[in-house]
Amino acid sequence: VALTRPGRPVPGTDFTPVAPNTADALVVPRGFRQNVVIRWGDPVVPGAPKFDPAKQTAAAQAKQFGYNNDFVGLIGCGHNRWLMVVNHEYTTEVQMFPQYDANNPTREQVEVAWAAHGLSVVQVEKQRGGGLKVVPSRYGRRITLNTEFEVRGPAAGSKYLKTSADPTGRRVRGTQNNCSGGVTPWGTVLSGEENFHQYFANADKVTDPVAQARLKRYGVGTGTSTRKWERFDKRWDVAQEPNEPNRFGWVVEIDPNDPNSTPVKHTALGRFKHEAANVKITRDGRVAVYSGDDERFDYIYKFVSKGKYKPGNSALARRHNMALLDEGTLYVAKFTGDNPGDIDGTGKLPADGEFDGTGEWIPLASGDKSFVEGFTAEEVYVFTRLAADKAGATKMDRPEDIEPNPVNGRIYAALTNNTDRGAAGKAAADEANPRNGNKNGHVLEWEEAWGDAASTKFAWRLLLVCGDPKTADTYFGGFPKDQVSPISCPDNVAFDPYGNLWISTDGNALGSNDGLFSVPVAGPERGHVKQFLTVPVGAETCGPVVTNDFVVVAVQHPGENGTPAAPTSHWPDGGNSLARPAVVSVWRD
Ligand code: FEO
Ligand code: CA
Ligand code: CA
Ligand code: CA
Repeated sequence: VALTRPGRPVPGTDFTPVAPNTADALVVPRGFRQNVVIRWGDPVVPGAPKFDPAKQTAAAQAKQFGYNNDFVGLIGCGHNRWLMVVNHEYTTEVQMFPQYDANNPTREQVEVAWAAHGLSVVQVEKQRGGGLKVVPSRYGRRITLNTEFEVRGPAAGSKYLKTSADPTGRRVRGTQNNCSGGVTPWGTVLSGEENFHQYFANADKVTDPVAQARLKRYGVGTGTSTRKWERFDKRWDVAQEPNEPNRFGWVVEIDPNDPNSTPVKHTALGRFKHEAANVKITRDGRVAVYSGDDERFDYIYKFVSKGKYKPGNSALARRHNMALLDEGTLYVAKFTGDNPGDIDGTGKLPADGEFDGTGEWIPLASGDKSFVEGFTAEEVYVFTRLAADKAGATKMDRPEDIEPNPVNGRIYAALTNNTDRGAAGKAAADEANPRNGNKNGHVLEWEEAWGDAASTKFAWRLLLVCGDPKTADTYFGGFPKDQVSPISCPDNVAFDPYGNLWISTDGNALGSNDGLFSVPVAGPERGHVKQFLTVPVGAETCGPVVTNDFVVVAVQHPGENGTPAAPTSHWPDGGNSLARPAVVSVWRD
């Protein structure tokens, strides 16, 4: 048992915190060791060529580990063995290619980037007394921007999804901007397509005002795109293919157990900048899926299936469960504070000593029935943000990862930051988002009525209002602030087997590197945030998996704050090497 020692008060968090730092290294507590499990360019598919950054090709990249690893999911497949599924969110061409002209990318560079997106599946094995290692297997798989997906659920075949390449609206080429995700009880991975808007060009050339308003609400790119992909495939040019952006922004599902399976895009879960998707079984055996829309002033959603989960691993059960997300009800959250008059935007605690209150899930659509005036069900699913605006959902400070705690049954959401809160013409602080100009973010916890994930009512409170514990605008669950680690910009969340919350950060506004933190959520240690590791310069910490034996993190975009002429990171290989996003395991020595 790596993170626990008998007789210690909080099982799972027995380590000496790492101090904030700006090292170009992954720093772990004394007594722990680490290894790189897999890095950008390492082989995934059998026969993958050796990585050569000076001569990278699309054909090689399509068999190698992709760029900017984010979510990590482990699915057990035998003693000390797992299928590891990793998302590759986006590409940073200027760091990937030694010769890159941002105004004139070559076709090969663009095609490398398409192949560096998506997901990887590899098999990993725990080494004796050590970390994880990739082992050769028949499961090795790359999913890229060229992999065919099946569109499922109520908006499959929608007129809004049809393009010249796919007149059926049911077959989409590829996935992109897969940020975080979740492992389902039936052994598949759900992954959120997040900032898909940034790859499109010329949305401003669409003249129909209704279509224009929809594109604008999703922030779809105007003018020339940063990456210029529209020069190489017209699907990235919204003026030519106005529906292509509608084919992204979904939750996708991958079955890592079957390397030949066709991955799925689930329209019943709505279309927005999905950070992630995590499942909780309802009292009566249906499945609820929680997902945040990572945008300033956007919303928290829940989907509840019509059908019930079938336990077991038979082919029949798996087929049944993989269809559960095809039909159900999509809700959006409304949060009501119990001390509205006490919220002044400074982060000062209200009179009852807690940022807390009640909430409700507002139904948006169920099957082909819409609950939102002026929207068909099809429009609710494809233009979910606009339907949720109309329904009166609560505008949140960038909802990131949301996960149910397997021990106490409560749901935890990271709200990463929102510096526009309270700005002129923007929503002011409320009890669920209590700071104007929120630079450091907060962590919200709620309990569904009767502990049932199908409930439409809940009670909520803030666990953390992040930032420098020395400042008055922070709150650490009531724990003495002189004993906690500073934490800023919570992003991904995970739980250890004891129900302690683990939080990874992205964009630390306190001047140190990002990292991974543990925090007990119950008992006298509730709110005692401790930093477990820090990641190298310029990187964000992603995909935490925390078991009794090891911790896995994905180190995304190391050195991103540098330039090719003045690199800030040479992690993980050191010397003068190119920084490479990589997945790391950490264990007690
Ligand atoms: Fe890709 Fe919301 O972080
Ligand atoms: Ca993220
Ligand atoms: Ca209160
Ligand atoms: Ca983030």
